[in-house]
Amino acid sequence: MKNAVISFKNKQINLTKEIKTPLLDRLFEYKNSPSIGFHIPGHTRGAAVHPKFKDIIGADALLADTTDEFDNLGTLHPATGAIKEAMDLASRCYNSKKTFFVTSGSTISNLAVAFGALRPDDKIIVARNSHRSVLTGTIITGANPEWLMPKKLTDWAIYGSISPFELNDKLNQNKNIKFVWVTNPTYEGVVSDIALIAEICRRHNVPLIVDEAHGSLWNFHEKLPESALNMGADIVVHSLHKTGGALTQSSMLHIGKNSNIDADRIEHALKLLHTTSPSIPLLASLDASRAFLESKEGHESIQNAIDNAEYFREQASKIPDVTILGENGGINTDVTKIFIKVKGLTGKRLESVLELDFNIEIESASDEGILVLSNIGNKKSEFDYLISALNIISKNNYPDLSHLEDIKFMPLTEPKVAMSPREAYFSNKVKIKKENSIGRISSEVIALCPPGISVLLPGEIITKEHIPYLNEYTEIEVIEE
Ligand SMILES: Cc1ncc(COP(=O)(O)O)c(C=O)c1O
Repeated sequence: MKNAVISFKNKQINLTKEIKTPLLDRLFEYKNSPSIGFHIPGHTRGAAVHPKFKDIIGADALLADTTDEFDNLGTLHPATGAIKEAMDLASRCYNSKKTFFVTSGSTISNLAVAFGALRPDDKIIVARNSHRSVLTGTIITGANPEWLMPKKLTDWAIYGSISPFELNDKLNQNKNIKFVWVTNPTYEGVVSDIALIAEICRRHNVPLIVDEAHGSLWNFHEKLPESALNMGADIVVHSLHKTGGALTQSSMLHIGKNSNIDADRIEHALKLLHTTSPSIPLLASLDASRAFLESKEGHESIQNAIDNAEYFREQASKIPDVTILGENGGINTDVTKIFIKVKGLTGKRLESVLELDFNIEIESASDEGILVLSNIGNKKSEFDYLISALNIISKNNYPDLSHLEDIKFMPLTEPKVAMSPREAYFSNKVKIKKENSIGRISSEVIALCPPGISVLLPGEIITKEHIPYLNEYTEIEVIEE
């Protein structure tokens, strides 16, 4: 085979090498000669389920839905057998000191970071555009976040990148910071300068945690941004299920190669927070996803996603009234995440036109725009169809019905903190009418999903900027006075 070895990002990928899949292999053996089971799960290898469910999900999927501890698969907590072998392979592939498999999403990975590395009253610097699981981490541990505000991309009503210089200032102003926690890329694909951020953290001798939930492909292609694992981050979290091809809820938590973070404490936290019945199909899908992405076919799929994204960006930018985030704006984005807007239409209206008139589903819509993901499984013809739909929309008068809806503008405001998230969460609360809530201290986490970024957290003062965003609320829970 030509070009069997590709070199990039300080490593070489041998596209012809045998790629091991220990957990998949063991599951395959079991599928071909299953034992007779007298154990959980009670559907007994799919023998006792609703036929419609079996039809949808497939008999093999039910057979694979067995339990760790049985059928020679190994266990997750503690990691043993084929499950451990699969985690070790993932660790080697992602260049980590240690990698853990997680079957409850990056939500639990983030909680384990907090629970494993923080103690009550620890101070951490956290980017405000973090997923709400990061913030839940401060509630369960009692740590105090010092907020780092990312750049505001007001034209797009979203947060952008983190300023390394502002981080440096914060680290100069605040002593005894336990760690810095940032999200990269943002949900909409904006990329921060993690190399510089990592360097700044190193100089201040403060560990860096990167929620790279949306960047699990980065390790596998030279045209995608560099993973924080290769830039000195101490912990990196990946939602393999988001873009990596694993089943929904599958995540990996990696400890950085040179990190001094106590991996045993993180493992212990995972054990306490994680389900005691990890799904074998989810664990196997992590093994499969890593192996596929490392393979020649996987590399071609990522290349395909990049080619399609570049093609779509080029074609869509020629359509009148269409603007794409990151094209010409000096904003660095992951090419496969395409945030676009069409003049005269809110993102929500555009989403519903695409869905109702063209049978197209996009990743998400906000007040301003829509997020389109160029996935490893998408075809060029699908992008052609989307381009033709956008052309039709731009030529026809699709009146914006947003006046019929309440528009939500996410307030990108600096939080006014009155008490710690934990103290507020456990205080006495009352529900009051939303109109009367300005000036009161919120006891709720208000973070609509997607993207799950917090607009209000327990302990923060509700301001008039929050009110338009709360249009689905008639009442809001606040701290009792
Ligand atoms: C940046 C970020 N981190 C973590 C999560 C949580 O991931 P999961 O859905 O895998 O639990 C999300 C979910 O959208 C996210 O956007």
